[in-house]
Amino acid sequence: MTKGTLLYEGKAKRVYETKDKDCFIVSYKTDATAFDGKKKGSIEGKDRVNNLMSARLFEVLEEKGIETHFVKVLEEHEMVVKRLEIIPVEVIVRNVAAGGMAKKLGLKEGTPLGKPVVEYCLKSDELSDPMINEDHIEVLELADKEEIQTIRKMALKINQVLKAFFLERELNLVDFKLEFGRYQGRVILGDEISPDTCRLWDLKSGERLDKDRFRRDLGAVEESYLEVLKRVTGMIN
Ligand code: C5P
Repeated sequence: MTKGTLLYEGKAKRVYETKDKDCFIVSYKTDATAFDGKKKGSIEGKDRVNNLMSARLFEVLEEKGIETHFVKVLEEHEMVVKRLEIIPVEVIVRNVAAGGMAKKLGLKEGTPLGKPVVEYCLKSDELSDPMINEDHIEVLELADKEEIQTIRKMALKINQVLKAFFLERELNLVDFKLEFGRYQGRVILGDEISPDTCRLWDLKSGERLDKDRFRRDLGAVEESYLEVLKRVTGMIN
């Protein structure tokens, strides 16, 4: 399968058309941004880590009956995905207070939450991805009531599966972001699941092994991404 027209270039990925009208090729980038694009940089090898880690996690989720857009790995930094009609909502699931939630609610980072918390943000660079609720999603006609319930149920199931998967690899899944889309009338999981989109803390030391190392200038960014890939896929390098 070869890349056709570049359809979209985002902060972390490029999406290309293919001859197969049902599929896109996603090409991951090494570019890294944070704080609404105000902080810019790059993380060497991130394109490969995010592609291979997402591929593995999509397989794990499919095995548990969660449909995803993943079709196959094409190159180390590229995958073939089903052509989705993306629902422009970022769905965040949190198990532990950190980042935006800790700041907004005055909680100490690391405070465990009694149950998973699902949040929604409108995907909009101009508006800086404002937090919205299920009523907003409905009145903005981003998704209907049934789709919203499906998204919430899927997000919580994905959390269950991923939390257990990471725990076996001595990683604490603190929070993560998902995106969903429509495919042949069904809502399925899209986007990526990577250290860019998850907070992953080492179970024993509590060390952050995710994009917070870049956001907060903690150093050892590349090494942390590789460590996560190693634990997820068993790959040595
Ligand atoms: O910043 P905040 O605490 O709201 O982020 C929650 C989770 O969602 C983090 O794991 C973060 O990496 C992810 N996220 C993301 N893309 C965004 C916003 C948040 O992947 N635009």
